[in-house]
Amino acid sequence: KRLILVGPPGSGKGTQSPLIKDEYCLCHLATGDMLRAAVAAKTPLGVKAKEAMDKGELVSDDLVVGIIDDALKKPSCQKGFILDGFPRTVVQAQKLDEMLENRGVKVDKVLNFAIDDAILEERITGRWIHPSSGRTYHTKFAPPKVPGVDDVTGEPLIQRKDDTPAVLKSRLDAFHRQTEPVIDYYNKKGIVANLPAEKKPEEVTGVIKKALS
Ligand code: AP5
Ligand code: ZN
Repeated sequence: KRLILVGPPGSGKGTQSPLIKDEYCLCHLATGDMLRAAVAAKTPLGVKAKEAMDKGELVSDDLVVGIIDDALKKPSCQKGFILDGFPRTVVQAQKLDEMLENRGVKVDKVLNFAIDDAILEERITGRWIHPSSGRTYHTKFAPPKVPGVDDVTGEPLIQRKDDTPAVLKSRLDAFHRQTEPVIDYYNKKGIVANLPAEKKPEEVTGVIKKALS
């Protein structure tokens, strides 16, 4: 299947992705993860993206469209994919349609992680991440067995630089202004499934599986 995950920061996109990826054997492309890797490696792309990311603003459409265009060429992404955090502007959605048209395929479903803003600060400020696997924990909702340590590898967990209340505010602002119109764009095509993203992770997974069956 070819899926798009859309929702505000902390709505659960990265948490649900590995679960649906395993079930449907897809490739998972998260532009945020790819950009953070580029920033850490100080590549030319990372250098260009860093300032906007630190402020909680969107990186330019050209940069992210380029990343996705390259990534979709990978053999593992030919049968299906999960796009997590892309498209985030209507221009990105239009470019994606062009890319897919050229390949003779289209998006099957857009999973909309619908949730109230008020819940998100607690989720974001309690988040801990295992960078190399992308596994996500939460001090209250999904604590690791040992605080600060990944359950599987025993490696240290980190917090994201943009996971502060102040930067969250501008990320939310970007979501409402630039990304909500993307949901309308796909609503017009009739392919949006709305998820109750404030519910427990298992319940959200259940609704996703139903929407995809
Ligand atoms: P990105 O990395 O995409 O961040 P985001 O959209 O802000 O989303 P998050 O990763 O914060 O949230 P999530 O929904 O994945 O939450 P998670 O599942 O981890 O983007 C970062 C930056 O990169 C952007 O600001 C921008 O600068 C740039 N960028 C990226 N893509 C771009 C694009 N296309 N165009 C332009 N710029 C782009 O969950 C959060 C926490 O809550 C975790 O601790 C988790 O354990 C917990 N949790 C999850 N689900 C539940 C639940 N159901 N109940 C309780 N707790 C839960
Ligand atoms: Zn994420």
